[in-house]
Amino acid sequence: MSDFEDKVRDALSNPQNQGEMSDADSVGTVGSPDCGDMLRMWLKFTEKDGKKVIDRASFQSFGCQTAIAVASMATELLKGKTAEEAAKLSADELTGELGPLPPMKIHCGQLVEGALRNALGGPSDEASAEPAKTLSAE
Ligand code: FES
Ligand code: FES
Repeated sequence: MSDFEDKVRDALSNPQNQGEMSDADSVGTVGSPDCGDMLRMWLKFTEKDGKKVIDRASFQSFGCQTAIAVASMATELLKGKTAEEAAKLSADELTGELGPLPPMKIHCGQLVEGALRNALGGPSDEASAEPAKTLSAE
């Protein structure tokens, strides 16, 4: 078993931030044409030191284990980042300690990046399964 597979298995033994967020400020969804997987990410912002930063991020993924592991890592890394900082993160950076992803799994990271871009309302390289929605914050 490769080092990468070990890390993915570890991440999957205790995935963080999985599930729909009922009080999210925004949500983004992408589907991967490569494998038919779908990933949705929710973001909740808060005010900190006069800046609007990500308080929480959560995700749902259907199918791919690597995408679940990367999304678990990414949703932890996003906490405390402003939307501008989050928008600059590459798929590689979002993959964190799980990376570098093997060539066959690069698009799993791109799926997570695409869902984040979509949730942030920016452009996404991934085909969008549905347009970004901005939820009303209450
Ligand atoms: Fe899911 Fe490849 S099997 S992205
Ligand atoms: Fe497509 Fe992982 S998201 S194989």
